[in-house]
Amino acid sequence: MLQKPKGTYDLNGQTSKQTLYLETLLEGLMEKYHYQYLRTPIFEATELFHRGVGETTDIVSKETYDFYDRGNRSMTLRPEGTAGIVRSFIENKMYGDPAQPVKIWYYGPMFRYERPQSGRFREFYQFGVEVFGTNDPIMDAEVISIPVNFYRLLGLKGIKVKINSLGDTESRENYRKALLEYFKPHLSELCEDCKERYLKNPLRILDCKVDAGLECMQKAPKMSDYLSEDSKVHFEKVKEYLELMAIPYEVDDNLVRGLDYYTYTVFEVEADIKDFGSQNVLCGGGRYNHLVEQIGGPEIPGVGFALGMERLLSALEHEKIKLDIDDTIDAYIIPMSENEKNYAFYTMQNLRMNGFKVEMDYMNRNLKGNFKQADRLKSKFVIIIGEEEIKNEILTIKNNETKEEFKVDSEYLVNFLDEKLQDMEVNDIIHDYEA
Ligand code: HAM
Repeated sequence: MLQKPKGTYDLNGQTSKQTLYLETLLEGLMEKYHYQYLRTPIFEATELFHRGVGETTDIVSKETYDFYDRGNRSMTLRPEGTAGIVRSFIENKMYGDPAQPVKIWYYGPMFRYERPQSGRFREFYQFGVEVFGTNDPIMDAEVISIPVNFYRLLGLKGIKVKINSLGDTESRENYRKALLEYFKPHLSELCEDCKERYLKNPLRILDCKVDAGLECMQKAPKMSDYLSEDSKVHFEKVKEYLELMAIPYEVDDNLVRGLDYYTYTVFEVEADIKDFGSQNVLCGGGRYNHLVEQIGGPEIPGVGFALGMERLLSALEHEKIKLDIDDTIDAYIIPMSENEKNYAFYTMQNLRMNGFKVEMDYMNRNLKGNFKQADRLKSKFVIIIGEEEIKNEILTIKNNETKEEFKVDSEYLVNFLDEKLQDMEVNDIIHDYEA
């Protein structure tokens, strides 16, 4: 039997309902924050990611899905969203829009050839934002507030923001030199990957999970001691704005993130969930003030983040958080025989066009079987259509919970259902309030 590729999954059942619910919630949140939706291709020229994400990152050096198209062009399935959004921002000259800053959100599949494990897939979905045109630390704080508010809205507790500053180019260069000097006598203690990182990008040694416990790692120089005055002020301001929004944070000197484009603020949001392992990093992001230039655009600062949908779903499951998903239907229509099927089908069409969620019997069940099906579909009302009903144009409608029965003139069916459903909603609100 053919099976799905390793590290991928089929979205179905309850998880597909949850995912659609979360997607709708995010869309609503983005309306409130006033971000515009941008969709870019799932594959881009390979060069974009080499220039954008960075040659020395694991993502580009080990994890991309690359292929040659039939025109012999080297293409890559996007491993993340930022590089494509930046390319699009430049190509569409969005920097010329007078309404700066440009605030963008995106959502879609990303591809990384990683070792599949819990919370790590080869195809996964990211929701993210990118903001261009301002270096104001207030925007770093706004971006950080998006996932925090979203997770809070969902009821996730123990949300922790880890934050660090990588400073401007000058601070980073000074720090890089300090790290090279410091790690030189410790090179033999470091893992093979870190020896490579020493040569290519020593900052990333601090990010190493293998060497994390070494004494030399704990005593390594700290980025905070190498920040320029301007970088320090920027970082202080970000923290001030977070405090203003009552967003608790923790400064983590070793947070460098796995992508090369960051300057100034970097952050990750973690869920404090027992036995959740490395997948507790729910999202990550930061400022990238030279990326637009690096990809061939003007000198324009940017800041953004991305969150993984799969990790969020699994955090919600771990924390037993139920989403407010309405999987009921308003009415289930039962034609008593083949003769009433046309009328039932027509009634269903009419109700759907009037905004109701309606199903009917497509399987020629008997009455008992049909009531069972109405229960399975969590139908609020059952509409029974028999010979008499059609002749008299009076329908039999049952409240599927109380079993109360009504005779309703077919002409008033829409009004009747509307009224009854509204009553139910009000009763639910009163019930919730009293509880
Ligand atoms: P990232 O940290 O590589 O950053 O990914 C962001 C989030 O995507 C992670 O925190 C995680 O939730 C999810 N994620 C990453 N890899 C996987 C995977 N293999 N399986 C499941 N989920 C995964 C970025 O991608 C940057 N583009 C974020 C950004 C936007 N920075 C600035 N703007």
